[in-house]
Amino acid sequence: MKRLAIIGGTGIDELEGLQIIGSHALDTPYGAPSRAVQEGSLAGNQVFFLQRHGSPKAIPPHLINYRANLWALHSLGATDIVAINAVGGIAPDMGSGVLVIPDQVIDYTWGREHTIDDGSGSGQLQHIDFTEPYDRDLRQALIAQAQSAGIVFQDGAVHGVTQGPRLETAAEVRRMTQDGCDVVGMTGMPEAALAREMGLAYASLCMVVNPAAGLGDEPLTLEMMREALEREAAVVRDLLQRLVCADYCA
Ligand code: HPA
Repeated sequence: MKRLAIIGGTGIDELEGLQIIGSHALDTPYGAPSRAVQEGSLAGNQVFFLQRHGSPKAIPPHLINYRANLWALHSLGATDIVAINAVGGIAPDMGSGVLVIPDQVIDYTWGREHTIDDGSGSGQLQHIDFTEPYDRDLRQALIAQAQSAGIVFQDGAVHGVTQGPRLETAAEVRRMTQDGCDVVGMTGMPEAALAREMGLAYASLCMVVNPAAGLGDEPLTLEMMREALEREAAVVRDLLQRLVCADYCA
């Protein structure tokens, strides 16, 4: 049976409408996850929820224990993960307020624990196929629900993931444009690759909350990002609820 987990990003601390049934404070071979995993019912259907930045103190993107987070969700029985990521917009059609379902990733992060392969396994080399970093079926399920609800979104984008926690320089964003990135965030990797290693179906829902560095008229502020997040959160919630009702019904 398929079971959905949602990983919340900046601005999505709780999943509104989620009736909490339980809270799982787990330890994993990689240490503690960002926070206890909430188990709940969304429109009558079982869903897990984990805020990747933890709470009440926010864990910055480069210090998130991505391995522990995914391991915890996996061990609770989640099979599918929808990750919510706040991003800056790079491509001209990725303005603030746009909802994006990316289909590709470029990983600019470094120094993060990016694999569960510590060499002690079967002795066989493991090379996961990451040609398509997001699960095709889960992406299509999100797209189908967005389309049927008339939600405006971008189907397909290259999600560049930087190390943070600082934002990019204008020159870095110019280089990312040349590389083909459409949006830029800090939390998409190694999460997507670890999910693939653990056999979890994984897709990302990106919310554009600012123009990337050097592309807007105003200085980048957290306030600007928060305002955009608040405006978009309702649409994301609606989409997730539709997905759960259509594809993960009890
Ligand atoms: N860059 C990187 N990460 C982000 C941004 C950005 O402009 N906006 C939100 N997360």
